[in-house]
This record gives sequence, C-alpha cells and structure tokens, in this order.
Amino acid sequence: MAASPLIERLKELKAEVASLPAPADERALEGLRVHYLGKKGSVSLLSQEMGSVPKEQKPEAGKLLQEVRASLETLLAETGARLKRDKIQKEIEQEFFDITLPSGEPEFGARHPIAMVMDEVVDIFTAMGFQVEEGPEVETDYYNFEGLNFPAEHPARDMQDTFHLTNIERLLRTHTSPVQVRAMQKYGPPLSVIAPGKVYRCDADITHSPMFHQIEGFTIDTKITMGDLKGTLQAFLRRLYGPKTAIRLRPSFFPFVEPGAEVDVSCVICGGKGCRVCKHTGWLEILGAGMIHPNVMRTSNIDPERWSGFAFGMGIERIAMLKYGVDDIRLFFENDLRFLRQF
Ligand code: PHE
Repeated sequence: MAASPLIERLKELKAEVASLPAPADERALEGLRVHYLGKKGSVSLLSQEMGSVPKEQKPEAGKLLQEVRASLETLLAETGARLKRDKIQKEIEQEFFDITLPSGEPEFGARHPIAMVMDEVVDIFTAMGFQVEEGPEVETDYYNFEGLNFPAEHPARDMQDTFHLTNIERLLRTHTSPVQVRAMQKYGPPLSVIAPGKVYRCDADITHSPMFHQIEGFTIDTKITMGDLKGTLQAFLRRLYGPKTAIRLRPSFFPFVEPGAEVDVSCVICGGKGCRVCKHTGWLEILGAGMIHPNVMRTSNIDPERWSGFAFGMGIERIAMLKYGVDDIRLFFENDLRFLRQF
C-alpha cells in the first residue's frame, strides 16, 4: 500500500526542519516559531489533517509529526538560550567599568562652631585650674531662682522669660548659674568650677534663640576679691581675643552677686576705634559677673564671713558671633551646610 500523501509531506517537513539554519536573532527566532508552530503554521495545519490518514498508517504519521515538533522545539529552545547568552556576553564586553577610578569624595563631619568655641573657652579655664561641672537642663525653681537669691516676685521669673514645664514642678534652666549652687553643695569650698551647657528662654529674634549655650564660672576661697575676678576675666579674654584686648567692668545687678558687674571687651572688630558692631562705642558687652552674694553662700552652708568668691556667666553664641563675624544667631541652629562648612 502506497504511503499517504500526508506522510510524504511530513517526511519532507522533517527533512526541511533538520536542515534549517539556526535563526540569527530574536526576530528570526520568533518568525520561525510562527511559521511552523503558530496557529496557521505548517505543523499545526498538518496535524489538523491527521484524520485523513488511513488507520494502519496513523502510528507512522503520528511519530513523524512528533519528531518534527520535537526537533523544532529543541531548535527554538537552544537558539533562544544561545541568543540570551550572547546578549549578556556582549553587554559584559561593551560595558567598561574602571575599578581603578577614585570613588566619590566621602563627606566628613566636623565640629559645630558653637562646640568649638565651648571647647576653647573650657580649655582656657581648665588650664587655669577650674574643674568642669555640669547640671541638668530641666531644673527646679530652687536651683534656678530661689537658691540664687531671686526674690519671689522677681521679673526674671515671669512666664515670658522662663519655660515652665506643665504638670511637674520643673522648668528649663534659664542660665547655668544653678550649677553654682549644685557644685557648692556637692564639694564645699575652696572651689573653682567652669560649667558649660544649654539654657532656655522664651525669646527669639536675630540675637536671641530659645535655646542657647552659656558657660558659668566661679571661684570660692578665703581671700577672693573683685581684683581676682577682673584678673581672671582679663587673662581669659586676652587668650580668646588676643593680647591687646582691654576689658572694663560696669556696675550691674544680678540677685546672686554683690557687687555685680557687666563686663565689656574692647571691640574685637575695630579694636576700640568704633564701628557698626560696637555701635561706635569701641566696647562690646560680653558677660555678667560679680562677687557671690552672701545669701547664696549661706544656702549652701558656706560661711560668708570666712569665704568669698566671684562668679561670671557668658553666652557662647555671642562670643562665637563676635569671633566669626556672624550677625544672626539663628544661623547656628539651622544646620545649613553652606554656613557650617565655613568653620
Ligand atoms: N546668670 C547670668 C545671666 O544669665 C550671668 C551671670 C552669671 C551674672 C554669674 C553674674 C554672675 O545673665
């Protein structure tokens, strides 16, 4: 019995598929798949004709069809895999990555200008024999006011200056002076302390920030006088602003000192000739100071007949503003890197 025409066509197709060149790219691959295995592809069309094959020839036809389909699928799979490999290989060869190039500059952090000035001031005083003490920023009325001889109705206790914490009997310290009382009670005299830290006041404009830094200092011994105060501050300010710096004391009032003084330095910008910064006076107010009030000593069980002492307190931002010629205190707290990088 002669082979059915379908078998002949299947044999031809098998030979054709066996001699197919491997498709060169993705498009040719997809064209091949559609041409043979697509809905209207030759393999699909032939398989639809299987019904017309005489029964006894069906196994042979079926086998041939299977073989054609299998070799096509192998060809497509292998070519697909090869094209993918080639593509990756090409990428590797073309993409040039120079591992010897330097990487981007690492960003280094730096000390904040306020921290640098704090350190400098603390260093000058520790070199003179002062010991460093710290106190809490959340304080009691006792240490911030009462123990410092503030009368009950003193205006500095007003809400406008002091941040009072609600629900608890605490406030944010408005100055570093409470550390005077704490250190006196902790160590007793003789004593020389420098106390740096943050303080808080409800106040904000170009020269005031609600949080700023102060450094407090005091000395208690048996024969401390106003002369020791002036000499100590002069030595400090000359080291900070240069050997030509002059200082002057003007009478002033703070409840915890008697007498009290405001200390000025000759203008660090114009050297005392008069300029915009010193408002043409030649002087800059730089700190508050005085002789420790007997009441403050008594609070800490120190006998004011036997002991005497001086105290001073200064704002670090003000010192930094003068040192670096910065005219807006808020710049220190905005953390704008363009500003901070200049120090
Ligand atoms: N505590 C004062 C202030 O904050 C400064 C000061 C300290 C004055 C010590 C005299 C003695 O203004």
